Amino acid sequence: MRANIDWKSLRKEVLETFTPGPAINEVAQFAGRKATIQRLQDIAAERARHAIIFGERGVGKTSLSNIFHKDLNTATRTVREIAVDADSADSFDSLWRKVFRRIQWSDAEGPLDLQFPGEIEPDHVYLQLARFGQNELPIIILDEYDRIKDDACRVLMTDLIKALTRLANNPTLVLVGVAENIVTLVRDHASISRNLVQVPMHRMTNEEISEVVTSRTRRLRMKISQDAVWRITYFSAGLPFYAHSLGKYSALTAIESQRLEIDENTVLSSIDRCMADVDYTITESYTRATEKIYRKGNIFAQVLAACALTETNDIGQFTASSVEEPLSAIMGKPYEVPAFSFHLNEMSGPERGAVLRKTGARRTFQYHFAEATMQPYIIMKSLKEGIISKEVFDRFKVKRQKALAI
Ligand SMILES: Nc1ncnc2c1ncn2[C@@H]1O[C@H](COP(=O)(O)OP(=O)(O)OP(=O)(O)O)[C@@H](O)[C@H]1O
Ligand SMILES: [Mg+2]
Repeated sequence: MRANIDWKSLRKEVLETFTPGPAINEVAQFAGRKATIQRLQDIAAERARHAIIFGERGVGKTSLSNIFHKDLNTATRTVREIAVDADSADSFDSLWRKVFRRIQWSDAEGPLDLQFPGEIEPDHVYLQLARFGQNELPIIILDEYDRIKDDACRVLMTDLIKALTRLANNPTLVLVGVAENIVTLVRDHASISRNLVQVPMHRMTNEEISEVVTSRTRRLRMKISQDAVWRITYFSAGLPFYAHSLGKYSALTAIESQRLEIDENTVLSSIDRCMADVDYTITESYTRATEKIYRKGNIFAQVLAACALTETNDIGQFTASSVEEPLSAIMGKPYEVPAFSFHLNEMSGPERGAVLRKTGARRTFQYHFAEATMQPYIIMKSLKEGIISKEVFDRFKVKRQKALAI
């Protein structure tokens, strides 16, 4: 039977099925997040309610904003989706100009932005949004909102959201950005807290990550062992990019030796290719954080690996003392905080690329990775380089899986 398999076209299918790069655009491709989707649909249905989706980089914010409204179309109402990306040079005028460029009223010639030779102000936006009919459900998505540097833009956006409460029709604004909380994204958020609903996006659960992998392998008519799914789930740490990337390369690796089964070893041997897919800013910061200066040996790579193995609290933070156990295991002898607090400090500063962020006060400092995608990369890299032995890895892997399974 196997002789009949068209390996070449299966390979192509794998590349279409696992998508580590682009955001999801179809409901069928989107795993989990049921409660959050419902929440956003409710916000879209309610008048004068808007949403701000925020969370770590790469958790799936854009994908969610792409799909949550797909099944809101009814016989009497059509969703009008307008999605734009903000950039660091944007002002209120240029951001809304992007939106207006995508609106074309039937009684006008050309896109709406042409009717505004001067600056677009909140009242202009208000009046244009008022023109959508009762049979339409406009959803305006302003993605990459964290990139806006112009403070005046944020102030005007708050003014706009306040003003929109007067509208009789029901346009919904969805702001999307990388942030730990909305304080950095929205000005004077207390004044619009009833109108701008916070939708924090957490990492995906282990079940959701396994769903990403298993549903896709099933679709490809391939098999994946439980151990292999666990490995991918563990490495991914709730970040769907890694689930897609490891899934993709594991499937390709299997296909290259004409197999339809993915086992644990297939996953392990696809790590290299997954690491090569990681954004270069991550690989660069890793190099910077662990660099040898004047070729002198140091333990930065070991300390960083220990940080990546450390159990964190719900929001990804860990303390210096929680690094002691994994670091001692890596080094093969006991290490206590004073022996590596210098390293933690250095890696939280600009000299070593600020891979870690330090918060809190002296003695109760908490650390977390500045970039979410860094932690899985460190584990894979450290395994590859032999900084973490397979035994140490398994010991801490088991511990973390137990903790995650609760
Ligand atoms: N629910 C999901 N099911 C399956 N794959 C997902 C899901 N959410 C996101 N992904 C995948 O994860 C990766 C990151 O998704 P996305 O671009 O939506 O994240 P993001 O939070 O917008 O990232 P960024 O912070 O870089 O803008 C993409 O490869 C996407 O296909
Ligand atoms: Mg995005």
